[in-house]
Amino acid sequence: MRYNVVKDAEKIMGNSEYVVKNPENYKGKWSSFFGNNNPICLELGMGRGSFIIEMAKTHPNINYIGLELDKSQAATAVKMIGTKKINNLKMICADAHDIINFFGKEIDTIYLTFSEPWPKRGDEKKRFTHVNYLKLYDRIFKKNKHIILKTDNKILFASALESLSSYWYVFDKVSLDLHNDERNIENVMTDFEKQYFKERRKIYYVDASFKN
Ligand SMILES: C[S@@+](CC[C@H](N)C(=O)[O-])C[C@H]1O[C@@H](n2cnc3c(N)ncnc32)[C@H](O)[C@@H]1O
Repeated sequence: MRYNVVKDAEKIMGNSEYVVKNPENYKGKWSSFFGNNNPICLELGMGRGSFIIEMAKTHPNINYIGLELDKSQAATAVKMIGTKKINNLKMICADAHDIINFFGKEIDTIYLTFSEPWPKRGDEKKRFTHVNYLKLYDRIFKKNKHIILKTDNKILFASALESLSSYWYVFDKVSLDLHNDERNIENVMTDFEKQYFKERRKIYYVDASFKN
């Protein structure tokens, strides 16, 4: 899928009430920022934000934060919201590697949706499911750990299952073909997923948790 460059991305984000400009100021205070004690879910690499926007609209009693490194993608997500009023949604334009600067132990679920697969040998540590990332997530999960991952990439999926299980996560649901799964797993499609759906690609899914 092509990435569009948004020339005035900084300005669009600067003017948006959805983009949190200094997320480090809210570390440990996201519940008061949202003004409620509802669960907080975080999507890493939200891209154009279709998934997180739709999730926030569908579940008004859950707070959602979408994090995206690329300014143009984040600005496109802001544009997608348009004039809609979504009280339970915020966005951060930053590197996922810095999440421990933005969050204390306050996250209920992390969504990893069609993350970069980093297939080359030597790049494994960059995967959002590498054990080093799982260790970072430990520092922001409220109590229990909960990760939902979707990908079309077999290598990423296999390595995710391996690192999650080596880190004692339990698989509550696994699907090797999410769109044709008879269990009716709740699914909001991401932008990449919509494209893959048209191409009839299989989508791999895992809902993993570790209960403390
Ligand atoms: C393949 S796209 C998927 C986008 C979206 N989740 C979807 O499914 O449509 C991966 C996204 O992750 C973002 N990304 C990659 N590395 C990142 C990082 N270290 N921190 C935050 N976002 C990152 C990319 O900029 C890109 O938008």
